[in-house]
Amino acid sequence: MMDEQKILADSKNYAENLIKSITASLIVISTEGIILSVNPHTCKMLGFSEQELIGKPINTVIDIKDLIFEDMWVKFLIKKGEIINVERTYLAKDGSRIPSLFSSSIIRSDDGNVEGIICMAQDMSERKRVENELERAQKFAQGLIESSMDMIIAVNKDGKITEFNRAAQKTFGYSMEEVLGIDISTLYDSPDEIKKVMEDIGKIGQYSGEITGRGKGGNTFPVIVSASVLQDSDGQSSGFMQVSRDITELKQAEQMKERLINELKKTNEELKKSQNQLVQSEKMASLGQLVAGVAHEINTPIGIGVTAASHFQDITDNILSLYETKQMKKSELEGYFSDAKETSSLILSNLRRTGDLIISFKMVSSDQTSHVQRVFNLKLYIEDIILSLKPKLKHYPLKIEIDCPEKIELDSYPGAFAQVITNLIMNSLNHAYDKGQEGNININVELQNSNVIIRFCDDGKGIPAENRKKIFDPFFTTSRGSGGTGLGLHIVFNVINQTLKGNITCESAVGIGTTFIIRIPLKI
Ligand SMILES: Nc1ncnc2c1ncn2[C@@H]1O[C@H](COP(=O)(O)OP(=O)(O)OP(=O)(O)O)[C@@H](O)[C@H]1O
Ligand SMILES: [Mg+2]
Repeated sequence: MMDEQKILADSKNYAENLIKSITASLIVISTEGIILSVNPHTCKMLGFSEQELIGKPINTVIDIKDLIFEDMWVKFLIKKGEIINVERTYLAKDGSRIPSLFSSSIIRSDDGNVEGIICMAQDMSERKRVENELERAQKFAQGLIESSMDMIIAVNKDGKITEFNRAAQKTFGYSMEEVLGIDISTLYDSPDEIKKVMEDIGKIGQYSGEITGRGKGGNTFPVIVSASVLQDSDGQSSGFMQVSRDITELKQAEQMKERLINELKKTNEELKKSQNQLVQSEKMASLGQLVAGVAHEINTPIGIGVTAASHFQDITDNILSLYETKQMKKSELEGYFSDAKETSSLILSNLRRTGDLIISFKMVSSDQTSHVQRVFNLKLYIEDIILSLKPKLKHYPLKIEIDCPEKIELDSYPGAFAQVITNLIMNSLNHAYDKGQEGNININVELQNSNVIIRFCDDGKGIPAENRKKIFDPFFTTSRGSGGTGLGLHIVFNVINQTLKGNITCESAVGIGTTFIIRIPLKI
């Protein structure tokens, strides 16, 4: 008897432990629908305490809508004995609704009377959530496919179309119903192309390239395609998917671009041609100016020469006829001699001036100047130039200072370089200082990458701003009366730019001095 009681107590304990540990809700209700007992998981799942639930109607925890035919449910249950795996909504204390997988069965007493009903439920919210998520993802993917600007076409392993998005419908002109199940080759213009696509997909699982598409109306158009194999869940090929785009407009734009580039090239060439012509005519114009200047400059000494020579002829004829008619007096012969001496020296000086002018004109064209290229030491060479000018310089109270690194070697045209420095020194002598005025000339040289920068400075009168922009023009001079032709700086400019491949600028302030800044390359 004791043993039986113990066994009974043990098995009751066991049952209670089992009910406690079960991770599903167990609720026992009376045939009137009143909660008689709940297991701990029910409290955990719904957030109620046991006391809060015992004695309450079952619709406290199960949605009333599910139980609207409460009586019928109970009757149905009693008749059928159990309900298995239907969906019910459980209600938690915080108001949330918990979708649950619900089963229930009746409890009968030993004599067969219905004593109550046991309701068992499992929380399905996680499964529901995953299901919802899956559905959303599917809808999203579908939405993506549909709204894509690119054509998306899927094909099963027999080559029949299974997906044909809106962009594809628009481009090919087929409706979804028209293409579903038809062969993909219908959309390609050439059987060879579809063969190549299929081969690549078969071999390497993908294809990308250009094909010619064929629309419903037989129209053809270039399409850029990227296709890849579709795999089912077992990793088996279930067909392929192609993303493609009609590139008709792109092609047209490309052609247009090419045409435009060609036109641009042509225009550019024409521009260059006319620019060359312009440069040429500019050169001609300055040459014309030069010729006019030359004519003007030479006109004066030649005119004087001609007048003097014809005067010489006249007085000679005159004295000759006096001599022949034996009427010549001594005083007349003496007059003729002094006249002849004066006239011949006038002729000579004007012819000399003409000769000098012609030498300068020749030098204007820099390519007629000394054309021997060699390597020379810059500092020593500048010293030599100054030495050669000593006979002229000794009449002026001027100090010349050279400030140049010893080691600079120039591979250039020393003759041309000497001409530049000589002209600049002569200009300082002639224009910068008054007669007898003391002055300083500084020639400063520094290296800058592969160039030398030469600053030639004097501290003389300076050049007024209005003259500064004209000093390099041919025939600009402020000393025409005292033998200036205005060619010196023009020659300097041409020699530096053309022969020495450099450039020259001038800075000057009246009363302070003038600086010429010359940049020439170390090696030409
Ligand atoms: N160092 C200087 N200081 C002041 N003025 C100068 C200096 N160098 C040139 N000039 C001005 O620039 C003008 C033009 O100089 P450029 O050497 O071309 O001609 P020029 O010396 O007058 O004549 P040419 O050199 O042909 O005998 C000069 O007449 C003078 O007015
Ligand atoms: Mg000069």
